[in-house]
Amino acid sequence: MGFTELWESLLPIGRYGPAGGYRRYSFTGTDSDCRQWFRKTAARRGLRAEHDRNGNLWAWWDVQDPAGGAIVTGSHLDSVPDGGAYDGPLGVVSAFAALDLLRERGLTPRRPVAVAAFCEEEGARFGVACLGSRLLTGAIEPADARRLADGDGVRLAEAMRGAGLDPAAIGPDDVLLDGIAAYVELHIEQGTALAGLDAAVGLAAGIWPHGRWLLEFTGRADHAGTTRISDRRDPMLPFAATVLAARRAAARHGALATVGKVIAEPGAANAISSAVRCWLDARAPDEATLERLTAEISAAAQAAAGEHQVAVSVRQESVTVPVQFDPGLRDQLAAALAARDIAAPVLPTGAGHDAGVLAARLPTAMLFVRNPSGVSHSPREHAGPADCEAGVAALAAVLEELAFR
Ligand code: GLV
Ligand code: MN
Ligand code: MN
Repeated sequence: MGFTELWESLLPIGRYGPAGGYRRYSFTGTDSDCRQWFRKTAARRGLRAEHDRNGNLWAWWDVQDPAGGAIVTGSHLDSVPDGGAYDGPLGVVSAFAALDLLRERGLTPRRPVAVAAFCEEEGARFGVACLGSRLLTGAIEPADARRLADGDGVRLAEAMRGAGLDPAAIGPDDVLLDGIAAYVELHIEQGTALAGLDAAVGLAAGIWPHGRWLLEFTGRADHAGTTRISDRRDPMLPFAATVLAARRAAARHGALATVGKVIAEPGAANAISSAVRCWLDARAPDEATLERLTAEISAAAQAAAGEHQVAVSVRQESVTVPVQFDPGLRDQLAAALAARDIAAPVLPTGAGHDAGVLAARLPTAMLFVRNPSGVSHSPREHAGPADCEAGVAALAAVLEELAFR
């Protein structure tokens, strides 16, 4: 099956609203449909599908006499709210399509090869990005993960149980990881570097350190029409001041700070809020800058809260250290691509990926596919069909180099 047919078989699942974005949240009915698609896609190819203890999906091309550890490729199927079609699924679909291409050429693997789909990569439901790969590698305590709750107060443990998974079994899986020699993730580029370089595919250099912080401003609910200005303890005001301070601090440090999610309680149009909760996403070229940036934003939140007699708490929800992808693996992949006349410039990225989390345990690499507008985490995210095919060809070349005879 070619890339387009496979791509189109996944497209209807989880599409939401007139803008055509996706809501594919972990351990929901839509997620179950995605998982079923994965299993069916694997079965049609004679690949052995399974989930690991952390709910990540694997489709194995087993071999009789494995020489060396497995080569794994893939990405994720979950999305941000109203996300694009490509962030995540492009890597999973391209992985299956690349294996199809190699099989059509009559090639067979000399070592196990797997397609993986890691769960809760976006952290859109439970707040911690790359949760599946973090659990797998031990980057988050299983007990802490089990306690994570979604916006409706549903705990991860409960959601996993509902999806037929055992939350008591989550945690690091050294046996699985020790059997893997390398992980290569293909992903849509979330920027315009490739468009500027006139290249369809690129290789990742590294990922900026980044994290998420929950800020809670607690004030006092009151009547919008009768409460004098001087009597108000309105949490919306320090919240607003903090958003502006974050923007200014990020610009000063050559970094990025975004408040993309806010909840005002109780959310009445004619009442002062009792509380405002918001999530800060901060990213910087290095850890020291990220620390300075978040310290400044936190100080600005404290100062603004004090000014308005509002209480504030700041809690880090997740942090990802800077990642430099394995240079030896990248050079090997670059050489394999160059041998097929595929030019693949090396790019840094501010986006987080499971490959970045797995890099703490395994040699990992990433291939990016051109995104002409650079837009991502939006229904407008797009990669052209020819570039997607180029991505599949590049991934096939890389897998051939690493795992096929
Ligand atoms: C994942 O897409 C992230 O960078 O937040
Ligand atoms: Mn994403
Ligand atoms: Mn992604």
